[in-house]
Amino acid sequence: HPSNVQMEESSILGRTNCRAKGGAPGFKVAILGAAGGIGQPLAMLMKMNPLVSVLHLYDVVNAPGVTADISHMDTGAVVRGFLGQPQLESALAGMDLVIIPAGVPRKPGMTRDDLFNINAGIVKTLCEGIAKCCPNAIVNLISNPVNSTVPIAAEVFKKAGTYDPKRLLGVTMLDVVRANTFVAEVLGLDPREVDVPVVGGHSGVTILPLLSQVKPPCSFTPEETEYLTKRIQDGGTEVVQAKAGAGSATLSMAYAAVKFADTCLRGLRGDAGIVECAFVASQVTELPFFASKVRLGRTGAEEVYQLGPMNEYERVGLEKAKNELAESIQKGISFIKK
Ligand code: NAD
Ligand code: LMR
Repeated sequence: HPSNVQMEESSILGRTNCRAKGGAPGFKVAILGAAGGIGQPLAMLMKMNPLVSVLHLYDVVNAPGVTADISHMDTGAVVRGFLGQPQLESALAGMDLVIIPAGVPRKPGMTRDDLFNINAGIVKTLCEGIAKCCPNAIVNLISNPVNSTVPIAAEVFKKAGTYDPKRLLGVTMLDVVRANTFVAEVLGLDPREVDVPVVGGHSGVTILPLLSQVKPPCSFTPEETEYLTKRIQDGGTEVVQAKAGAGSATLSMAYAAVKFADTCLRGLRGDAGIVECAFVASQVTELPFFASKVRLGRTGAEEVYQLGPMNEYERVGLEKAKNELAESIQKGISFIKK
């Protein structure tokens, strides 16, 4: 065994076994809100990720059931469950990556901002736990409204003296996943061949797909641009309406969250050239947070890329996005500073 791997003994029916503590070498990942609509498929997919050695599943309900279920999968990661606030600190101790899909989802007719009153407090409590128990972990924040919950998390970490902007990432991957899918449909391509940068934030007009930068290079008619931009911006609402009161995107979100988490883990491992869009502390615009392409490395979002050349349609969209984003960011900051 490599010398830096701690061994642990266990015994079942008198047979004593020795295995690496925490399973195979790899990263320790916690999911907060693991029993929810996103949390469950996300937990399942993370259990399948070979970069994960330990998977902690935390929720205020049903965590033991989800943990028992997932722990029977014959993959390498060791799974442990944690139920309720008294177990939050144990869930977080020693984690390399914390993924947060905890909080209420939208119902038809609601905006993401309508979730603020409940989810802001949930995110605050969870981030206080992170500051205390795993201040160096990378945080992937999924709970809505992302445009406000990321500033909330940043303020909590600042207060605790643990804030490292590189380690706090709002997950906007689902916007990219949708954009790749919808653009591929229009172009008649395999979505896996398409790469659409989506910048700004994660709500309505703040979701700004840069269709002029699509790879492979292509051009769109004004009608196609309008259709695609609106469809990408309203993708979440499309699912909320189709689910008709039973919640919002969970399966595509779990897929997107795992894609993004895997990117973060490969960055942590030291892989080169890992780039994805995320909502991060940023100097790309005058706003303190903005989603754009970031390069992920051993310490998190090590480089935040400029937006690149935009056409007139995108420049107009950028102004609208910034106006709404400014308010949502301020609302998050004020929630902690008040
Ligand atoms: P859900 O209601 O199915 O699950 C949420 C889970 O969070 C539940 O299991 C609940 O018990 C748990 N929870 C509540 N309070 C908690 C706390 N204090 N600590 C730990 N866990 C707690 O909802 P969902 O469909 O999984 O959505 C979760 C969140 O993700 C929502 O806010 C939703 O809007 C958001 N979301 C974001 C994106 C994105 O692209 N960033 C996409 C989809 C959904
Ligand atoms: C999404 O984009 O699907 C999520 O933000 C959930 C929602 O409320 O739309």
